[in-house]
Amino acid sequence: MTLPPVSTKPQPVPVEDEKHRVQLEEVGQDLLLQTYVMMKTSRLYDHDNENYSRQLTRLMEVLERGFRLTNVVKLHAADGYFFFNDKRLRVRLDGYLANKYVQDVLETMGAGGFAFSEGVERSALDQLFRRICTIDPNPTDDEASIEKIHAEFESLNLPKIGLAPRMNLSSSGSKPKTIREKRRMAKQIFFRAVGAAGEAVSQMAIDKPVNTTQLKRIVHSLIDQILSDETYLLELTALKNFDDYTFAHSINVSIYSITMGLRMGMSKQLLAELGFAAIFHDIGKTRIPKDLLNKPSALTSSDWEKVRRHPVDGVLVLSSSMTLDSHVARAMIVAFEHHKNLDGSGYPYINRTADLNLFSRIVAIADFFDALTSGRKYQEQFIGFNEALVELTKQSGKRFDPSLVRLFLRILGVYPTGTLLLLDSGELGIVISNNPEDIFRPRVRIIANTGGFVEKSSVVDLTAKDASGDRYLRNVRHIVDPKKYNIDISQFILADST
Ligand SMILES: [Fe+2]
Ligand SMILES: [Fe+2]
Repeated sequence: MTLPPVSTKPQPVPVEDEKHRVQLEEVGQDLLLQTYVMMKTSRLYDHDNENYSRQLTRLMEVLERGFRLTNVVKLHAADGYFFFNDKRLRVRLDGYLANKYVQDVLETMGAGGFAFSEGVERSALDQLFRRICTIDPNPTDDEASIEKIHAEFESLNLPKIGLAPRMNLSSSGSKPKTIREKRRMAKQIFFRAVGAAGEAVSQMAIDKPVNTTQLKRIVHSLIDQILSDETYLLELTALKNFDDYTFAHSINVSIYSITMGLRMGMSKQLLAELGFAAIFHDIGKTRIPKDLLNKPSALTSSDWEKVRRHPVDGVLVLSSSMTLDSHVARAMIVAFEHHKNLDGSGYPYINRTADLNLFSRIVAIADFFDALTSGRKYQEQFIGFNEALVELTKQSGKRFDPSLVRLFLRILGVYPTGTLLLLDSGELGIVISNNPEDIFRPRVRIIANTGGFVEKSSVVDLTAKDASGDRYLRNVRHIVDPKKYNIDISQFILADST
């Protein structure tokens, strides 16, 4: 099955106006959603089922609308985004699940997307989805099986349906293919980012000017990594035992913030500014004496006065160390506002009623969550990942923007990355990612079974069912406090396994 030949029929006059773009966006979003619905429906129903047939009719209708705009309707994925012909579709919050699912299926098919030519028949579409529904929707690591599936699709030779090749827009050279390679790459990017943040902060602490070019490049690599699959970097945010956690904290806050921005449909430019600003939210702390930052006892009121200066100091440090541009301007706003609360409380006190900047509201949530779970922050007690989410929810609407809190919960799920779980199989596992299909059933890295710690960890998906499809293979029994059992989860996160 190859791409359909370009039609000789005269193309419609290209109308690059706003209306045309809106139409492309609407049809593209509908086509993406209907492709997802078809992938799901074809799994559940036979082809003579009424519901399946209705969804197929809907797909035909969406394609018809597409053919009114262009002769060949193309839906393809690249770098985490979907494109309808060449128009990049916005990442919609309500469409995120569909987006991820269709991407995963395409990845397993070894394809970048679909191309439908005008006149495509219902029976061909039916055949396409009949075959797709037999594919495991979890992306596989096995290139040989991907190639096999891909070849099967090609040999189906469905009239007026083509598979678009896999594409990546990133300029980062050769892409890692296996999960092991992807994890290794994520680790490289993460530690490079922590190192670069550390270097910049140390320079700024002694009032030296900082060249932001390298930092911007680092943020871009974080974005590219999150765009291709956020799982691997999110897993690394659970590492807490750094000698100096300050720099890992700033990178974690950046990773959480970028992930939130991405789910909100922000452009790469905005994501870059958000990720950059997040790194420097606490830069004003370089003006706080070290012994005060690490003070084990409760802070006195005069200590607090010093700590509460760091948002204002942050603006001053940024302005004296960096040349002003849009990234630095955003960073100044975030540094100034990240301890201001939605209800007007917080610090620094300012007599005004203007809303807090969106970037500041995002960073405030990421900062709060990471600080609570880090166990290093001087004024907060360490609590587990799950309890931190409960705390965050309690502050929703008071300190934090409730819609952003909801978004954050949706990203992390009920059991955030890094949570240690005891399963009813007797196995112990660390949550590596939330399952967007079921936030109660994450993907878990098994580190121990009833016989003790396993030599090589493996990843299981808690949404997996037995052969009958009626029972889940594993269920969560309860959360386990790693400290109680003297388990250092970081060694498992860093282990070079799949
Ligand atoms: Fe702060
Ligand atoms: Fe912070």
